[in-house]
Amino acid sequence: MRPEPEKNATAAPLRHLAVIMDGNGRWAKRRLLPRKAGHRAGAKNLRRLCQMCGQAGISYLTVYAFSTENWKRPEDEVATLMRLFIEFLNDYDREMESEGIRLRVLGDVSGLPANVRESMLAAEERSRGRERLQLILALNYGGRAEIAAAVNRIAERVLQGELIPGQIDETTVARHLYLPDVPDPDLIIRPSGEQRLSNFLLWQGAYSELWFSDVLWPDFRQDDFDRALAAYSERERRFGGLK
Ligand code: IPE
Ligand code: IPE
Ligand code: MG
Repeated sequence: MRPEPEKNATAAPLRHLAVIMDGNGRWAKRRLLPRKAGHRAGAKNLRRLCQMCGQAGISYLTVYAFSTENWKRPEDEVATLMRLFIEFLNDYDREMESEGIRLRVLGDVSGLPANVRESMLAAEERSRGRERLQLILALNYGGRAEIAAAVNRIAERVLQGELIPGQIDETTVARHLYLPDVPDPDLIIRPSGEQRLSNFLLWQGAYSELWFSDVLWPDFRQDDFDRALAAYSERERRFGGLK
């Protein structure tokens, strides 16, 4: 007799998880701490998330760490965040190596302070070739900026005679995004109670499943992660077709 099919047998595997790490400020405020304490707790939690993803067999984890709109924040908060990014890379370097984590940056690196840019590019270089999990840090990232950058590159190639207007299709656009080899995210998680994308993965997220939770990012733990993955496994992804 054939075994009963599992309940989630129709769900597509979860290769790429994306997380909007939101709620650090509110987490700190509730504890009467400065916002930077929330960002520190948030960075620590990212290390936990990497472990969870590794154990769950996820191949790509993209995390929204700093948006193109976050420059609007007070200068000292931006400076704290930039410092934390460098600290994260330094403190987490060994562990990333032993966990087989490859680090990549998603965003306009040219707009980052030189020390952040250099730390990121060096970490990318060091971790090239690691295969267990790709940790993709969205830094100075905006979905609209990414699409605009792609359009500019395509326009240049048209001028060079390499591309023909009228023949530019979805594949052409996708190939000119920041990380064209990374598959689209299967699931996007946003904690903190907000239910919006805030300019995250606008192109790539066209058919992503979305999961929201009220928990603040620094408090997001294994049980929240398990709940999100369980919800994903119940989803039926149709991509516009029929079951
Ligand atoms: C997310 O937490 C971190 C960044 C946007 C850099 P927030 O700082 O947005 O936290 P809240 O939304 O104010 O609680
Ligand atoms: C989104 O959070 C960006 C990151 C988590 C890095 P925001 O806190 O910036 O988003 P809004 O302002 O609430 O939309
Ligand atoms: Mg926020």
